[in-house]
This record gives sequence, structure tokens and C-alpha cells, in this order.
Amino acid sequence: MPDGGFAYSHLFAKDLPPPAPRWTGFPKYNFIGGHNDPARIPAAALAEAATAVLRRRGADLALYNFDGPQGYRGLRQLVVDKVAQRPAIKCTLDDVLITSGSGQAIDLVNGLLLERGDTVILEEFTYGGALTKLKRLGVNIIGAPLDDEGLKIDGLARIIEDLGHKGIVPKYVYTIPTVQNPTGSILPSRRREELLALTRKHGVPVFEDECYADLTWDGAGPPSLFAIDPQQVIHIGSFSKTLAPSLRLGYAVADPQVMSRLVACKREADSGTGALDQMVVAEYFSRNFGEHVGGLTQTLHGKLDTMVEAVEREFGTAVEKMWYPKGGIFLWLKLPDRVDVTKLLAPAAKAGIAFNPGPEWSCNPGESKSHLRLCFALPSKDDIRAGVAAFARVCFEETGVPEQSANIRRAATPG
Ligand SMILES: Cc1ncc(COP(=O)(O)O)c(C=O)c1O
Repeated sequence: MPDGGFAYSHLFAKDLPPPAPRWTGFPKYNFIGGHNDPARIPAAALAEAATAVLRRRGADLALYNFDGPQGYRGLRQLVVDKVAQRPAIKCTLDDVLITSGSGQAIDLVNGLLLERGDTVILEEFTYGGALTKLKRLGVNIIGAPLDDEGLKIDGLARIIEDLGHKGIVPKYVYTIPTVQNPTGSILPSRRREELLALTRKHGVPVFEDECYADLTWDGAGPPSLFAIDPQQVIHIGSFSKTLAPSLRLGYAVADPQVMSRLVACKREADSGTGALDQMVVAEYFSRNFGEHVGGLTQTLHGKLDTMVEAVEREFGTAVEKMWYPKGGIFLWLKLPDRVDVTKLLAPAAKAGIAFNPGPEWSCNPGESKSHLRLCFALPSKDDIRAGVAAFARVCFEETGVPEQSANIRRAATPG
């Protein structure tokens, strides 16, 4: 369509994101976002599930929200059963809200609690999507320190106390305790108790995002924060990582006073989450959850090992720190300070490589210029090997790092 037929530009709202470039397809070596493994999508079983539910309940699609505004009962029951097993949450159908991806659950919780100028505490490295949403809302974001086990409670205590001296009570602490994004840590039980005791003392709710909690290498992690304190914690999860992100299904679990508000906000935001997707996932997962997630986790662990080997081979000692994740789909790395990964984005894209630059996953972007995140779920093992090798080549050409790959000293002059 030709540009310029109608003068819109002065009508657009202020502070919009920049216009999206025309989509030209996925890169050859795609290490970004949270895509899943295409070989693990159970397409035939999903087709059977769709046929079965459409035969049984197809006529109900005539109604908006045919099982009420909290979503399809079958899927809410699945969430109740699933969270009872893994993070040990006891809840009922009324405590669960199905959302269009857990991203929508984040929007709803933000809508419920935040106003421009409010302060929130996140983990110093965190989910980039959560950061983008908060920046758009004009909220002050403070990063709390992490170590290899997750949130450092003494560091968090100092932040809350310092804010208290200025008369500020943060609106929430957002945390990804089980398979933290991007570092892959699992917060130990003791720290979970300490986190809740600390935040309770200061009247701060905890916003728990358990997007990856089902995908751990060594079985279930400790009980979720919600399981320990269902009043103080708002819990969200997703079917994007356990099944398929394109289905756009997530959920929130919350105490009735929060839930009734979330449901009201969702009713204003949309006319329900896609019912067919909910029915298909409930039908498939009510029989296959354990088997599916077990197989997927094994595949992901194998791909992680391939990626770690590739990074060690191609980058060697140029990797200053590698966070070996305890589950999930991401590897988080730190290169030497002189490597500014944001300057690698364009040349990497030219070579068909996409990766997530550290600053977008950090509350302190200026201090994370040499960090990066690689997703290993989508590419095949061959593409992981070839893509990491190609990325090391680009990195060397731009920065002189790594000087050595696969035990061979690089000869080209850095440009
Ligand atoms: C920690 C975390 N929370 C939430 C989301 C949103 O996922 P979705 O909206 O697909 O459920 C993501 C996506 O990558 C994530 O990493």
C-alpha cells in the first residue's frame, strides 16, 4: 500500500514504540526469544484432541467465555492439578484465571497495582518483556542483586530499607524463582522463606513468575512462593514453554481479593482468551502432561549441553562467566568488558544470527553491555554448533574477541 495517503502522524498517541520494520522472516541461527523445539510439538495428538473437544463442546463456541470469565473449566482444572504436584500449590478452580499468554497476566497485575511514578523491584537480570512493560508505564525500576542461587535477600533488604528512608514502599517484588530468566538459577527454600518474611514485614506483595518451573533438569524445585504464602503472592505461569508459545495460553493464581480485580480488569481488556486453544490444551495435557514435559525437558537438556560445548569450543576463555542453567531454554553469558554486544547485533544479523543483548535483560543496561542470552530450544543441534561458530567469527571480526576458537588462533585482522 503506498505511504502518505492520509495524515496520521500528528494523530498518533505520544510515546508509542517506534514503527515495526517489515518482517522479513526468521534468521538462520535464531537464538532469541523463548521459542520452543519444533520437533517436540505433538501435532498429531493435538489434532486428535481438537477433534475430540470439537465433537463434544464445539457448539459452545457460539458463546463468549462459555465457562465464565476465568476461562475453560477443563484448563483451569488442569492448572489446579498441575500446580498441586509441582510447586505444591493448593488452589481451586476459582483461584485460577486463564490468560492470553502469561504476558497478559503481567499486564493485568501491572494494571491492578501500578501507577506512573511508582517503584517496583525486579531481579537485576530479568525478563526483558517485563522491563519493557514497566518502562512504558513510567514506573521506577530497581534491580536487586542475584547470585548463583537467585535473589540475594540481604541485598534486597538493603534496597527496601533505603527506599523506606525516602518514604517509598515498592508496589511489588517481581521474581522468577524457579529457573530464573535469564540466569537459570533455582532459589533455595530457605531464601524463599526469607524473601517472604522480609517483604511481609514491609507490606510488599511478591509477584512470582513461574514460566519455566516445569522444565528443570533435576525434578521439582522447592515449593513455590505462592504455596508458602497464598495471600501475599500473585503467581503466574505459562503453557508457552511446556507446549507451544503460539497457542498464547498462560494463567494467574491469586487470592480472591486479587482474583476478583484481575477478572474485572481482564473483562475490560478482552472478550475472553481463545476457547479452542484452551480446550485443545486441556484435552491433550490432561492425559499427557508428565510424559510430554519429561520428554521435552530431556531434549532441552541435550541441546543445552550441545550449546555449552559449542560456546566453550568457539569462545574458550573469552567467556568470563557462563551461568549453567538448572532448567529452561536459555544460556546467559558474560564476555570481557571491552565487548559491547549491542554493537554486534547488526553484523550478526547480516551473518544470519540473532541473539538477545544483555542490556535488554537487565535493570542496569549500562552495566550489562558484555552480557548476552542465547536460546537453545529452537535451533537443531547442528545449527547450534554452526551458529555459535559463526557468532564467534562475527565477534572476533568486530572486537578481536575470542582470539582463539576450537584451539586455533584466529588470523584475520579485527575490523
Ligand atoms: C519469565 C517470563 N515470563 C513471561 C513470559 C511471557 O510468556 P507468554 O506470554 O508466552 O506466556 C516470558 C516469555 O518468554 C518469560 O520469559
